[in-house]
Amino acid sequence: MYKIIDGKEVSSFIKSRVKEEVAVLGEKGIKSTLAVIIVGDDPASRVYVNNKKRACEATGIVSREYAMTQETTEAELLELISRLNEEKEVNGILCQLPLPRHIDEKKVIDAINPEKDVDVFSEVNVGKMWIGDYDVASCTPKGVIELLDYYGIALEGKNCVIIGRSNIVGKPMASLLLEKNATVTICHSRTADLSFFTRNADVIIAAVGRKRFVTADMVKDGAVVIDVGINRDENGKLCGDVDFENVKEKCSFITPVPGGCGPMTIAVLMKNTLAVTKKQNNV
Ligand code: GUN
Repeated sequence: MYKIIDGKEVSSFIKSRVKEEVAVLGEKGIKSTLAVIIVGDDPASRVYVNNKKRACEATGIVSREYAMTQETTEAELLELISRLNEEKEVNGILCQLPLPRHIDEKKVIDAINPEKDVDVFSEVNVGKMWIGDYDVASCTPKGVIELLDYYGIALEGKNCVIIGRSNIVGKPMASLLLEKNATVTICHSRTADLSFFTRNADVIIAAVGRKRFVTADMVKDGAVVIDVGINRDENGKLCGDVDFENVKEKCSFITPVPGGCGPMTIAVLMKNTLAVTKKQNNV
């Protein structure tokens, strides 16, 4: 019998703890502020940014939105970031991705002061994560770890297979799982005989971005399946990378989409904003 991992419940729990700590900072006269930059009018980005603002409201973090037009130049964006880097009241800065094609994403990410980089996308912070010397961890992978911890799912010595090698999910996910003493395999679109790896996995983390990519025949009995994918099915309904209806029967634990990893990313973003605020104020 499988158990559904409830990301809404765990994210609410994390946000309520953040809220308590934000209130304690408030009593000391310290505000926590997150600057969110959005460039252009990508509808998915708009939804994510609105959700981030809502989470800030729920936790007492001050959110500031900087909405820039599609025609914004790289220089203008870099100028804004430079200004926010200098502003003492701004504790965290994030620039919603993807950016319009005429803007160099890497240049923009690395322009954010690493001490304010709550996404943990900058090369300095990615490096710090890999050597285990960090204050904040990448939001989505850390969200997965929080889910596994909450449900008491041990990782030490476990065979964990990540499908997807992105800088945002796959690679930092490997780093955090290694820290938990798991044995980690990163598979991807060019992996030969993917099932060979997944069928031996105690934990599968799907982050490929293809609907129903992980099918029941790829999963061993009793596995834990974590679905990071956010796709649309034929009817325009949200779905993950896992064929949930068929895979669930083989699992011990499984995350749904929506309501699994999605809410966790934002909860960790709030946690990170709180953490950088405390660090900047020597709390
Ligand atoms: N685009 C998709 N996911 C993310 C995220 O976690 N942070 C930012 N800044 N952009 C994204």
